[in-house]
Amino acid sequence: MRWKTIDDIEMTDKTVLIRVDINVPVEAGHVTDATRIEKIVPTVRDVQAKGGKPVLIAHFGRPKGQVVPEMSLRVTVPALEAALGRTVAFAEDCIGGPAKKAVAAMRPGDVLLLENTRFHPGEEKNDPAMAAALAALGQVYVNDAFSAAHRAHASTEAIAHLMPACAGRLMEAELKALNAALGDPERPVVAVVGGAKVSTKLDLLGNLVEKVDHLVIGGGMANTFLVAKGAEVGTSLAERDMAETARAILDKARDRGCSIHLPVDVVIAREFKAGAAHETVAAEACPADAMILDAGPATVDAIVEVFTRCRTLIWNGPLGAFEMPPFDAATNAAARKAADLTRGGRLVSVAGGGDTVAALNKAGVADDFSYISTAGGAFLEWMEGKVLPGVAALET
Ligand code: 3PG
Ligand code: MG
Repeated sequence: MRWKTIDDIEMTDKTVLIRVDINVPVEAGHVTDATRIEKIVPTVRDVQAKGGKPVLIAHFGRPKGQVVPEMSLRVTVPALEAALGRTVAFAEDCIGGPAKKAVAAMRPGDVLLLENTRFHPGEEKNDPAMAAALAALGQVYVNDAFSAAHRAHASTEAIAHLMPACAGRLMEAELKALNAALGDPERPVVAVVGGAKVSTKLDLLGNLVEKVDHLVIGGGMANTFLVAKGAEVGTSLAERDMAETARAILDKARDRGCSIHLPVDVVIAREFKAGAAHETVAAEACPADAMILDAGPATVDAIVEVFTRCRTLIWNGPLGAFEMPPFDAATNAAARKAADLTRGGRLVSVAGGGDTVAALNKAGVADDFSYISTAGGAFLEWMEGKVLPGVAALET
């Protein structure tokens, strides 16, 4: 698929509506992780370099079509100013009089942020009237919100059809990285999928076994697969009612020539807490009163061996209870190996999804991956092989 970029559109003296995702964590009135804010800087800078006047459009939280003062985007202004190195004006509403007035007051060099689009019910309904009211504020639309592109909303979908539209720099980078990982990857490709539940990642697993050469399954969902293969997993987190589904995924993988890698050894404990007394046992030998909290060293060796044979890695979800040492050991060791191979130019590594980024940051390797997506839900839907409406709307 093809889309325009900032380079393809004339912006001189034009008001450029930039849809960003600055849905960032906030505690006690302060942004606690500005990553998503920092990532939009190249787009704002390049729009300004082309003579455009950047107006930022975004959602924040889930106010469900009502004005919820605690979900005002105003709280992000200081972090935006810090990232952009200039003052950022704020409009009390994203459409209508206040927005028009704020746009009219912009001087060269100014950046304007509009209030939460989800304060209007038309946003999530992808309402054409809401999209038209947004479009009336400017002449060009730039979508830089890959992480909100799984939503068909007025500010992500409908608006793109109303004016010249293009992808921002972050959107471009995301699409390029994701295409390199699953669209047109260098083979062999290995996917690591972890996390608690098979039930939330069924579509994802079903899509991946058709596309990748190796699939490493870790975390709680690996327990469900162990159960499916007849193992006892004691008090471990496992979805026993999903065993049949897990078997179907194993069968599909076999038919498609995708090798599935399950734990061969596991780290078990009797308490779910950091530092709990633990031991390593064979994957099928978890005692009835113990739970599996991480993959064991032999499993890590096997994963590392797969990594060294592959050219592309796509990673979603931790291999164990990574928030509680020492049950972060397998995730950390595998992540470090992926980082080494990436640094050595032997692997293209792409990761995404909320917990995944936290786990890779904790392992201290996030900077060494080829690409870390800013997206949570959008990354998962993309791994499921779904068309993201915000991306599709940019198609030329
Ligand atoms: C996110 O934080 O994942 C995006 O901003 C999308 O938010 P949503 O899940 O509320 O649509
Ligand atoms: Mg979300």
